[in-house]
Amino acid sequence: MLQHITSVHDFNVENLTHIFGHALMHKLGDILRPTNSFKFASKPVIMASLFYEPSTRTRFSFESAMKRLGGEVISTENAVEFSSAIKGETLEDSIRVIDGYSDFIVLRHPEENSVQSAARVSTVPIINAGDGSGEHPTQALLDLFTIRERFPDRKDLTITFVGDLKFGRTIHSLVRLLAELNGTSLETVVHINLVGPKEFGTPKKYTDLLSKENVSFAEIQDNITKDVVEKSDIVYMTRVQRERHGNSGFFDQSMFILTKDLVQSMPKDSIIMHPLPRNIELPREIDTDPRAYYFEQAENGLYVRMALLMYLYEVSEK
Ligand code: NCD
Repeated sequence: MLQHITSVHDFNVENLTHIFGHALMHKLGDILRPTNSFKFASKPVIMASLFYEPSTRTRFSFESAMKRLGGEVISTENAVEFSSAIKGETLEDSIRVIDGYSDFIVLRHPEENSVQSAARVSTVPIINAGDGSGEHPTQALLDLFTIRERFPDRKDLTITFVGDLKFGRTIHSLVRLLAELNGTSLETVVHINLVGPKEFGTPKKYTDLLSKENVSFAEIQDNITKDVVEKSDIVYMTRVQRERHGNSGFFDQSMFILTKDLVQSMPKDSIIMHPLPRNIELPREIDTDPRAYYFEQAENGLYVRMALLMYLYEVSEK
């Protein structure tokens, strides 16, 4: 059965439980002795990574995941210039060709809904690695894995998202995933704070979903305060997505910086997350604080993507 990952909506309690279980096994050492891997496939299993936007963590961790599983990778890290896009080829035509050379296509593209167009024509799973300011579902997967690993017994967490809520696709995917899991066995978060300037607020479709799923949330527009962080188990920082702003207005970033003082007022066992790359919102001086969790979070991307690739392969064999 062909399954694409275009949005976090493609995940459910059943497949997430499967993927998280396997991701944990990879993390705990199965990397060296994989019980299931592409090494045993009847022919080489190949992942194409097709990135029309820059990436460090997402592309490298997907490629590393594939290689650790014994698979092969074909790749272009700058598809705008180094694929036939520059000769005017449409995304759909590129996908129709690349699906004949590969078993998965990991796609990052500057346009929202580009993955839907790709998924419509592809005969192999398309994995959305970020579609403009739309979604970034595999980032939400590793974010939720990180939260559950760090707080295994908690179902009452408060998470505070800070930054560019309008254009930050990692926020969109994680908010949507948390909303859709509300009331299920994977429920972890009971309150969401959305902190950012008014003109860069969370798109209505996500706040509507939070309301529909009965998730308690607050939109906070002035700045990031002690009051808010001292009641947060997770502070999820994000950078300003300047490349997507066009003429959307001025973003005063100085109001949305997680200073050392603010970190001091966070609970002892709370964590700071960030999808990275960071700008000034996350000063380097807090890296040594035990609550700084973003590099661990990035590392989890490898294990989660290994588990996701294996899951999609198993599903496609059925
Ligand atoms: C994010 C992305 O590309 O959306 N990075 C990532 O994949 N870890 C965040 C960002 O670019 O700000």
